Amino acid sequence: MVLYMCGIIGCVGNENTLEVLLDGLTALEYRGYDSAGVAVFDNTGKLRMVKDFGRVSKITQEVLEIKSSSCGIGHTRWATHGAVTKENSHPHGSEGLQIVHNGIIENHAHLKKELTDIGYSFKSETDTEVAALLLDYYSKQSESKLEAIGKTVKRLVGSYALGIVFADEPGVIYAVRKDSPLIIGIGEGANYIASDMTALLKYTREHYSLENGDIARITAQDIEIYNTGERITRKKLYADWDRSAAEKGGYPHFMLKEIYESPDAVRSTLRVRIVDMLPDFSADELDEGIFERISRVYIVACGTAMHAGLIGKSRLEAYAKLPASVEIASEFRYNPPMLSSDDLVIVISQSGETADSLAALRLSKQMGAKTLAVVNVVGSSIAKEADFVLYTYAGPEIAVASTKAYSVQSALITLLAVRAGMLRGFIDESFAKTLVCELYIDAPSAIEKMLERADEIKECAEMLCESDDAFFIGRGIDYALACEGSLKLKEISYIHSEAYAAGELKHGTISLITEGVPVIALASVSALYDKMESNIREVASRGAKVILITSDTREYGYTMVRLPEISERVSFLPVACVLQLLAYYTSVMRGCDVDKPRNLAKSVTVE
Ligand code: F6R
Repeated sequence: MVLYMCGIIGCVGNENTLEVLLDGLTALEYRGYDSAGVAVFDNTGKLRMVKDFGRVSKITQEVLEIKSSSCGIGHTRWATHGAVTKENSHPHGSEGLQIVHNGIIENHAHLKKELTDIGYSFKSETDTEVAALLLDYYSKQSESKLEAIGKTVKRLVGSYALGIVFADEPGVIYAVRKDSPLIIGIGEGANYIASDMTALLKYTREHYSLENGDIARITAQDIEIYNTGERITRKKLYADWDRSAAEKGGYPHFMLKEIYESPDAVRSTLRVRIVDMLPDFSADELDEGIFERISRVYIVACGTAMHAGLIGKSRLEAYAKLPASVEIASEFRYNPPMLSSDDLVIVISQSGETADSLAALRLSKQMGAKTLAVVNVVGSSIAKEADFVLYTYAGPEIAVASTKAYSVQSALITLLAVRAGMLRGFIDESFAKTLVCELYIDAPSAIEKMLERADEIKECAEMLCESDDAFFIGRGIDYALACEGSLKLKEISYIHSEAYAAGELKHGTISLITEGVPVIALASVSALYDKMESNIREVASRGAKVILITSDTREYGYTMVRLPEISERVSFLPVACVLQLLAYYTSVMRGCDVDKPRNLAKSVTVE
């Protein structure tokens, strides 16, 4: 499985193909993108290509100047390999063909070298261009287009949905799918391809959903689907979505959609850094030697990203025995630690543009520390300025409240901590494999199991939705999670909420616990169950409504959300999912604007 990023659209047989493509690209905007492009046959049968970074509107004029077309493909790109530039935008190809791609070609570096050695040169930094030129190569060695595509996809490792047009075959689109969704829309006298139904609702609702290994040849009249060389049939499906729901991929809010994308986001982020179930950061050009040289790590970030840093701190200390502290970026400059070249500063940011985090990064560099950015947006300022960058592959996060970005940030730093632990001699290969397996295999499935039980969490939200105040308590890593749960709840439901280290309650806060105040207690660490139990008893005896999120299998008589069976070392991921859903449903029940909470912006570029 792979994350839904980028958007694909294609149309053959419709006289207004240019409008269909532009309209489809606009409909796919909800997925988030930074560049757009099309490849179309004009009315003389010539293959033309228009692309640029920026909005669809930036290419609209140039596309419409082609005047008329009845066959073409289009793409919205969310940068993963290579910065946001015109050259890196899709389509990619050669004189003979153009392709659009959704997914990641993991063996692109190896294939690029092979192609360079036989004389191919590249215009972009993308993995997609590698696939395009490989197809160009096989087209020259094959009797048919289908054969060339078959040979090409056999060489590709990773995930891909591809739309392909060949210059010498106007009126035909080829489509390929592996681990990245692609559908074929069935029209009257026209057929379509799209990465999701949103782009096609205006034209048709009947469609086929391609399955892994399918290669389709599509003309205005015909749709032929092949798998492992055999012609096959797929079941005809019908989409009864209304268009506004479809813009969010069928979810009522972006936030919910993004929570559901978390398991795949974690997998996509980790997959490219795991070889033989061991962490491998070689493709990131990370100087791993720094983990042997440094004596301290400072993690700097804001808000949710800072909370992901709290998880990172606990893992770096546990696995790599590296003292780590977490700094609020907006405070960092006023009270900077005494940094030196023995220190590593890790800046975490989804957007890569948060002003305080960027300023902290700059100051850290000035003070001589090495800097590493964990960033989701390719080519963003923080990514560009840090000494090293590790990208998270969460795809675009549109809801203001950060959810899947938190999951990938905390998962990626955990993987880094395992690698650092190996390099520093605290973790052997066999233990590292256990840790990687828990993180990469077990944790995303545990999130999925939690998502299947969303109704249970909805019931907990009913206990919260009429309250004015709420408290989140936990110890150790559960306290770090409590901080995030509390932030999520307050920012989107406007319920005043606070996170406390459970042991701190009796030092003041317990005076706020009165009849009916909700207390969300986190207990995912078995060594702390008993201590948490006494804290819970303290608040329950003062009338608190307790919601206990725990892996403990004992019955306590409180409302409980039981975590799926999973190693305590990675249970922070399913716990985060529960907290995100709890905030989400509470916000919905209170009638709040979930995706755009008041006074908040997605990217905070002012200090
Ligand atoms: C909360 C939230 C914010 C961001 C913070 C940092 O849901 O989204 O707290 O986490 O503004 O943003 P980035 O990660 O873009 O630096």
